[in-house]
Amino acid sequence: MQEVLKIENLKKHYKPRGRVASRSSYIKALDGVNLLVPEGEIHSIVGETGSGKSTLGRIVAGLVEPTEGRVTVNGIDMFNSSRDKVRDLRKKVQIIFQDPYGSLNPRFTVKKIIEEPLKLNHVEFDRERITDILRKVGLTPPEDYMNRYPHELSGGQRQRVSIARSFVVNPSFVVADEPVSMLDASMRVSFLDLIAEIQRERGISMILISHDISIAYYLSRKINVLYLGRIVEYGNADDVVNDAMHPYTKALVQSVPKLGKIEEKEVEIKGNIQTSSSSISGCKFRDRCMFAMEKCATEDPGLKEVKKDHYVACHLY
Ligand SMILES: Nc1ncnc2c1ncn2[C@@H]1O[C@H](COP(=O)(O)OP(=O)(O)OP(=O)(O)O)[C@@H](O)[C@H]1O
Ligand code: SF4
Ligand SMILES: [Mg+2]
Repeated sequence: MQEVLKIENLKKHYKPRGRVASRSSYIKALDGVNLLVPEGEIHSIVGETGSGKSTLGRIVAGLVEPTEGRVTVNGIDMFNSSRDKVRDLRKKVQIIFQDPYGSLNPRFTVKKIIEEPLKLNHVEFDRERITDILRKVGLTPPEDYMNRYPHELSGGQRQRVSIARSFVVNPSFVVADEPVSMLDASMRVSFLDLIAEIQRERGISMILISHDISIAYYLSRKINVLYLGRIVEYGNADDVVNDAMHPYTKALVQSVPKLGKIEEKEVEIKGNIQTSSSSISGCKFRDRCMFAMEKCATEDPGLKEVKKDHYVACHLY
């Protein structure tokens, strides 16, 4: 199957905020990520806060430039092509943000919010297209919502507007960055179903970003587990959850009751995720890993195919 998104050796290094920094203290938000998303598939990126998920999503959406590496969508290099090509490409990639409060312009009506990406993409105003997408996301009758402002909507309704805004331009790729994390738990499944339904109907490829591996499992074909800017495990969603191998993935699975086959307390991880800088040698997870051995401090465990189509970066395998 043809890939829509291809990411090769993607790096993003940030200067630490508020101090004079040497190269070695730069934060490695992404540190050599490779990814392929074929047409019509949803692949997930999971990991704790600070693992680099949003940085990856923002680069794919063209909002942040990488330090190094290549991102192509439908074979076109996002950061190294003519302006016209990049402009055309931007129409095809949309992003759904986590925060339905912060991501909608409070001075715009719903109609104007949804019209905006059409305008940016030089699509003529099309009332029917707007009413269709509002209906699709469950804001019915659409006429009741068109002239409302974001503050006149609930959190769930705002997120429906965000989803409508992303899909109205018929993108070929969508990045959904924690699309349900700010919604009540009771609403999450119906939102995930809605996103999956539109994705399937239109054959859109997607990256779903989540700190919750159960959400990734529910919606995606493949899961990438990201830790400090590196993919530490990758494979079919079923294999990554039910046959988790990396100690970090095991801990993520174990943190969700009734998910996967990890016994309670089988894996314990220490402390919190640290900021990744050049000073970390060997395995970046070693300070938190109960299985760490000598070579984990010196040798960087690369991602290896440990079982068919199941890749892990850990010296235990
Ligand atoms: N503009 C920036 N300047 C400096 N550092 C940044 C910037 N954006 C992100 N970072 C740092 O890069 C790392 C990865 O951040 P990112 O937002 O991608 O993580 P995340 O996995 O999305 O986390 P969360 O789950 O909290 O959203 C963090 O250490 C973060 O502080
Ligand atoms: S490489 Fe070593 S420290 Fe890293 S996860 Fe595997 S066992 Fe733990
Ligand atoms: Mg984020």
